[in-house]
Amino acid sequence: MERPISEAYFQEAKRHIPGGVSSPVRAFKAVGGTPPFLVRGEGAYVFDADGNRYVDYVMSWGPLILGHAHPRVLARVRETLEKGLTFGAPSPLEVALAKKVKRAYPGVDLVRFVNSGTEATMSALRLARGYTNRPYIVKFRGNYHGHADGLLVEAGSGALTFGVPSSAGVPEEYAKLTLVLDYNDPEGLRELLRSRGEEIAAIIFEPVVGNAGVLLPTEDFLKALHEAKDYGVLLIADEVMTGFRLAFGGATERLGLKPDLITLGKILGGGLPAAAYGGRREVMEKVAPLGPVYQAGTLSGNPLAMAAGLATLEILEENPGYYRYLEDLGAKLEAGLREVLSQKGVPHAVNRMGSMLTLFFTEGPVVTFQDAKRTDTELFKRFFHGLLDRGIYWPPSNFEAAFLSVAHTDLEVEKTLEALDEAL
Ligand SMILES: Cc1ncc(COP(=O)(O)O)c(C=O)c1O
Repeated sequence: MERPISEAYFQEAKRHIPGGVSSPVRAFKAVGGTPPFLVRGEGAYVFDADGNRYVDYVMSWGPLILGHAHPRVLARVRETLEKGLTFGAPSPLEVALAKKVKRAYPGVDLVRFVNSGTEATMSALRLARGYTNRPYIVKFRGNYHGHADGLLVEAGSGALTFGVPSSAGVPEEYAKLTLVLDYNDPEGLRELLRSRGEEIAAIIFEPVVGNAGVLLPTEDFLKALHEAKDYGVLLIADEVMTGFRLAFGGATERLGLKPDLITLGKILGGGLPAAAYGGRREVMEKVAPLGPVYQAGTLSGNPLAMAAGLATLEILEENPGYYRYLEDLGAKLEAGLREVLSQKGVPHAVNRMGSMLTLFFTEGPVVTFQDAKRTDTELFKRFFHGLLDRGIYWPPSNFEAAFLSVAHTDLEVEKTLEALDEAL
C-alpha cells in the first residue's frame, strides 16, 4: 500500500506542529513509519489522502461507537449549526444531555459539562479535595486520566511510593500529592487506606483499563475500592472511555459500581469535544456557582457537541440490542485472533470486555500493568504494519484498546483475521 501523499503531508506537518501531530500517539512513535493522513470516515472505515481504505479499530480513540459519519448524528449537528455555533449562555441541549446522563447513571444527581476528559478528571479531583478538605489523591499505575499535572504521575518500584512525575514540567512537590498503587492489588490499597486513609480526598480509577491496553478488574480489587468509602475517601470512576461503551450505564452498570463521582467524555460528545463530571447532589453542590470549588469554560456545553452527544445517546438508548451485538462481535474477533495466533504458535493474551480489546504478545494472563509490559513490542510493530499494509488500522501502540462500533460486521472481522493470517 503506497502513501506518498501522507508522506508529504507528514513532512510538512512536522515543520509546523510538534512531531506533526496534535496528540502524541498519532505520530506512530511506538510503531515507526508514517501515519496515514485521514480525510474521510464512513461506518467502520477510514480513508487516507492517498485514497486507501482501512477497517478502523481506533475509532477516534473511542467516541465513535456508532461508526464514522452516522447520518442521524450528522443531521442533528447540521440542524444545530444553522442556529449559531456557541452562545456562552445556558441552552436547552445541555439540559437534555444532562437528563440522558442521569438516566444512564442513576447515582448521578447533577452533571457539569466540560470540553475534554482531561478537564473532567482535573475538575473532579479539585471538587473531591474541596469537598473533603484533604490533600492526597490515589491513582493506579498504568491508568491514564488525561494530562492534568497531578495525574501525569507514575511511581517507582515497591508497593507504594510517593508519586514521581512522568512528564517534564510537573513539579515534584505537586506530584507528591498523588499516591500511586498497582491496579488489581487490593491488599496494597487496603494497606494504604489503613495507614493514610484520613488524608486521602479521592481514588480515581479506570474501572476497566484501556490505557495500559485492556485490563479487567478483579472482584476483590473492586471490593477494596469500595471499602475506601469507610475512610471518607471519594471514589471517582473515570468512565471517559468506558461510559456508554460497556453498557449504556458504562462500567458502573456493568460491574455494579457505586462511585461518588464519575467522569465521562468520548461517546458523550458523539465525536465532538464534550466531557462531563457528575455525582451526588451533596458533592456536586460544592461546584461554582453553588459552592466554593471554581470551574468554568468558554465553550463548555457547546451546542454542536451537545447535539452530537444527544443524537448518539438517543440512538444507543433506542437500541439496547447494540450492546449484545458488540459483545458478540467482540467475542468473535477475540476467538478469531486466538485461533490464528495459536495456529502459528505465537504467544499471546487477548483481554476484552464488550467492544474494547487488546492483543498482547505475551503468555497470559495479563492482569496488572507489569504483566502488560511483558508484551513483545517489536513483534507488535510488525503485527501493526502487517495489518496496516493490508487495510486494517489497529491502534498504533500495544498499550491501547482497539474499539469496535456497531458499524463493524462479521465481514470486517473476517478481513482482519485474513490480514493477520497473511501477515504472520
Ligand atoms: C480513561 C480516560 N480518562 C481521561 C482521558 C482524557 O480524555 P481527553 O483525551 O478527552 O482529555 C482519557 C483519554 O483517552 C481516558 O481514556
